[in-house]
Amino acid sequence: MNQQTLPDALQHLPEMKGYNRGANGYLAHIYQAKKAVSIPVIASLNGYYSGGWVQYARLIEAAGADALELNIYYLATKPNISGQEIEEMYLHLVRDVKAAVKIPVAVKLSPYFSALAHMATRLNAMGADGLILFNRFYQPDIDLETRKVVSSLDLSNATELRLRLRWAAVLSSIIKADLAVTGGVERGTDIVKCMMAGAKVTAVASVLLKNGIEHIKIILKELEQWLEENDEESIKGLQGILSQQKVTDPAAFERANYMNVLKSLEEE
Ligand SMILES: Cc1cc2nc3c(=O)[nH]c(=O)nc-3n(C[C@H](O)[C@H](O)[C@H](O)COP(=O)(O)O)c2cc1C
Repeated sequence: MNQQTLPDALQHLPEMKGYNRGANGYLAHIYQAKKAVSIPVIASLNGYYSGGWVQYARLIEAAGADALELNIYYLATKPNISGQEIEEMYLHLVRDVKAAVKIPVAVKLSPYFSALAHMATRLNAMGADGLILFNRFYQPDIDLETRKVVSSLDLSNATELRLRLRWAAVLSSIIKADLAVTGGVERGTDIVKCMMAGAKVTAVASVLLKNGIEHIKIILKELEQWLEENDEESIKGLQGILSQQKVTDPAAFERANYMNVLKSLEEE
């Protein structure tokens, strides 16, 4: 992508030419990142079946990554492959990668499983140390002038967080794996919500792409301010206090019908 064609909000992005560094470039990037920073470096591997990915996971570990995220980005468009087969494929990938490396392995999931709680439980049983909620699938658009399918990058917005909050609350009550939330985290107070729902980690991308990397300081300041105003020493004390198991009305995380939503509009 040419820098000139980027929307204004994304003009500060680094040249995209260097974005896809290829496999070796990525390994070198991990190695250099590890040398440059004092915080843990979590590498991300995009795949959905075993084989070559397992060897690559080993190389990522050797390059110095502290943990590995398996980003399972697979669109189930083949009519002859069942959901069960796809789930088995994911589980085998996790099993094989876990057997190949010593560093913690987390799985970045999509929310589109028929039985997410069941799948999360199985991934955890297969050895996943963490689950990342959730992947966003970028949807292609149609350009009416050229009559072509075009890719479009829609950055997230704050409303996407609610889906994650619900599932963090539900899953943190069921499984032992650590949960991370990614998608719609924009403010320090969003981090508080994620922690309360039961997440241990939050990740941000869109808000930094929109505002620049320095924006992370504002988010952290908002978080600190909230903790201070609410007499909380750290986020640790908040983790899971509103998980589905802990809330006084556990059904609140499952209620989502139109009647309830309309009632809440009347009450406003
Ligand atoms: C330009 C761009 C590139 C991304 N590349 C990856 C990627 O390579 N692997 C991945 O797991 N997620 C990728 N993501 C997804 C983000 O890591 C993140 O999960 C998602 O954007 C939701 O978080 P947000 O609401 O803070 O943007 C990308 C997102 C953006 C906007």
